[in-house]
Parts: sequence; structure tokens; C-alpha cells
Amino acid sequence: MGKLKVGLIGGGGAGNFFGHVHKRAIALDNTRELVAGALRSDPAAAMEAAEAYDVTGYPSYQALLEAVQKGEQALDYVTIVTPNHAHYAPAKAFLEAGIPVLCEKPMTMTVAEAEDLQRIVQTGKVPFVLAHTYTGHPMMMFAREMIREGRIGDIRKVEAWYNQGWLATALESEGLQQAQWRTDPARTGISNCGGDIGTHAFIAATWVSGRSVKKVSARLNSFVAGRELDDDFNVIGELDNGGTAIITATQIAIGYKNDNGFRIYGSKGSLEWHQERAESLLVRMGEVDETYWIGGNYGFLPESVSSYLRVPAGHHEDFFEALANLHGTMERMIRGGRGEAVAAPFAHPGVDEGVAGMRFVKAAVDSSANNGAWTEL
Ligand SMILES: NC(=O)c1ccc[n+]([C@@H]2O[C@H](COP(=O)([O-])OP(=O)(O)OC[C@H]3O[C@@H](n4cnc5c(N)ncnc54)[C@H](O)[C@@H]3O)[C@@H](O)[C@H]2O)c1
Repeated sequence: MGKLKVGLIGGGGAGNFFGHVHKRAIALDNTRELVAGALRSDPAAAMEAAEAYDVTGYPSYQALLEAVQKGEQALDYVTIVTPNHAHYAPAKAFLEAGIPVLCEKPMTMTVAEAEDLQRIVQTGKVPFVLAHTYTGHPMMMFAREMIREGRIGDIRKVEAWYNQGWLATALESEGLQQAQWRTDPARTGISNCGGDIGTHAFIAATWVSGRSVKKVSARLNSFVAGRELDDDFNVIGELDNGGTAIITATQIAIGYKNDNGFRIYGSKGSLEWHQERAESLLVRMGEVDETYWIGGNYGFLPESVSSYLRVPAGHHEDFFEALANLHGTMERMIRGGRGEAVAAPFAHPGVDEGVAGMRFVKAAVDSSANNGAWTEL
């Protein structure tokens, strides 16, 4: 059972953010290794970045794919960590070639692109994981399992949020690359805040609760002068069972870093989780509140969750581990598909959640442009 060989699309350059996080997450379990990359859009810079990453470099994702197809480059799956506009083309190309893809969120620029990837994944039965990192936190996974077991009863209301303050000023005009492409419609899509972090809140509201959002009424704001897209995103939604979802995200909440979390209210109890205190899950069942702490040795965790933990209780597992868990799910899908003896993969977000996220963002943008009119997904 050798290490899986992983390719990276995007993620190069000294100023890059999430490629470096993926690099560590890929390596964390010593069962996967980053071997190749098409790490930047400029071919020469891509080759230079590959040297810094110490992997085999390719000038473009097409060149990497060609090398794989010619048998010159061994590869088990690719990770796509480019800005949003550069997710779809490489995802489509690798999936059509039968190569599994772990893709960053939001999945694509448009609903049509997302539906196209869904069709390719379903037709070809190729493993696909959508990198909603927070769903890799064991306590978020545990919350989903509790709800599926009926522990808090029928879902009545869901609140999910993601508050940041880093775009409270025009950082994009000060040259910060992450701010530049996120606020540029050509590279980020029809929504900045909603696509970037509203989709994380949407996934918390739907993937954890097991409910879908049918229609929305939204108000999007752009507070910073000269900014074309939203930097504040507020949505009320109707769930498929008639319940209510309140999904909000903002980048202008000064002092807030990555305040992502949810409260889910059921007919028997409530759940509460905060990304910045990711190791605990609060369960309110009436008079008594229970706090659950992660720990691989704790029997209350179902095997589906505990099999992802690496250290006994009292030691921290956090951001890198959460992302590594998504790579772990991809690994289980690949190895399981080959008949290797591995634990069952957790139902982490995939192409269906990606399509739902894109429909959600589109409906919210349309609703806001139409004075908050209720808009179907
Ligand atoms: N899941 C999460 O928690 C999480 C967190 C941060 C970012 N992200 C996502 O990761 C992606 C990248 O975000 P970031 O903050 O790391 O941005 P970034 O600007 O730091 O990195 C983007 C990288 O892509 C490269 N690139 C751009 N176009 C390319 C192309 N055509 N081919 C190859 N490489 C190309 C750039 O050189 C750069 O290395 C975005 O989709 C973002 O939404 C997800």
C-alpha cells in the first residue's frame, strides 16, 4: 500500500495562502505525497514555484495531464487551489480523464459549470471532494451524525454564519493578491463574500442539518467604496421541511477573524459549534447542557468520526488536520475503489454540495438585486 501521489494545480508563489495549507495536509498522514504541480498561471513562474515546492513542475495543468496520460507522470489525484475562475477547466479535464479531483470552493464560477462537473462525476463515477475545510473538523462531523441519528429531533431552524473583518478597507487597492482576485468579478464570479465564505456557512446549514434550502430572500451590501461585489451577505432561507435558515457572512466585521459556526435547533434539542473553538460541540437538551470534546479515545464518537482522529483526548487537532481529513476521505475513496482494506469514507461535501452552493449564491444575488424577493434555488 504505497503512498498516493498527488498533483497540485495553483498554490505557487511566495504570497500564496491555501496551496501551502494543502501541501501540509496532503503530507500529514504519511500515506499521501505531493509529487507534481502546475502551480501558477505563468508557465515560467509555475516551473520556478515547483522548484520551491520540491515537486516535478509543469507549465500548465494541460501539460501535467498530458504527462499522466502518456504514462510519464504517476498520479492518483489532483488538488485544485487556484482562484475561482480557474477551478472548472482543470477539474473538467482531469475528471474526464478519470482522475479524481479534490477541488477548492466555491466549486465553479457559474451554476452551469457546476452542473457540468456533476454530470461528469456521476457518469464517470470519479471520486470528487469539495474542500469545505471546516467539514473535516471531527466535531462538525459528529454534529452531522447526531442529527442523522435523530438526537435533536426534527430540524426547525438553522443559523450559520461566517464573520471576517479583513476586507473592511480597500485592501485590493493596496496590492494584496487574495483581496484582488476575490473582489474582481472576472476571477471570483457574481459574488465575493457570498461565494468565498457564504458557501462555508451554507454548507454548515445544510450538510450538517441534512436539510436543503428551497428559496431565499437576500440583502447583499458593498460597504467599501469602489468595490463592485458584495462584502456583506445576508440571507433568510426556507428549508425543504418548512423550517428556517439564517445564513450570513461578512468581511467588514472589524476585529473578527474566522468566526464561522452554527446553531441548529431541533424539536428535542439544539447544537452549537464555533470554528474558532473547533474542538468542542455544545448540545443543549433542555435543562442540562452537554459539552463534547474531541479525543480519539472517546467512546461516544461513532467509528465514522473517531477513525479520523490521530491523538488521544486533550491534544489539539485543528485546521491542518481538518483539511487532512478531507484528503483522507479522498484517499479512502480511491483505495476503497481499488479494493484495498480501508475504513469507509465519511460523506464529506462533493459535487452535489458544490452545485447546491452555486445555486444558493446565484439565488441570493438575484434576490438582492430584486429588493429581497423570494427566489427559488
Ligand atoms: N477551503 C478553505 O477553507 C479555503 C481557504 C482559503 C482559500 N480557499 C480557496 O482556495 C483557492 C485559492 O485561494 P487562496 O487564498 O489560496 O488564493 P491565492 O491568491 O493565495 O492563491 C492562488 C494561487 O493560484 C495560482 N494560480 C492562479 N491562476 C492559476 C492558473 N490558471 N493555473 C495555475 N495556478 C494559478 C496563483 O499563482 C496562486 O498560487 C480559492 O478558490 C479559495 O476560495 C479555500
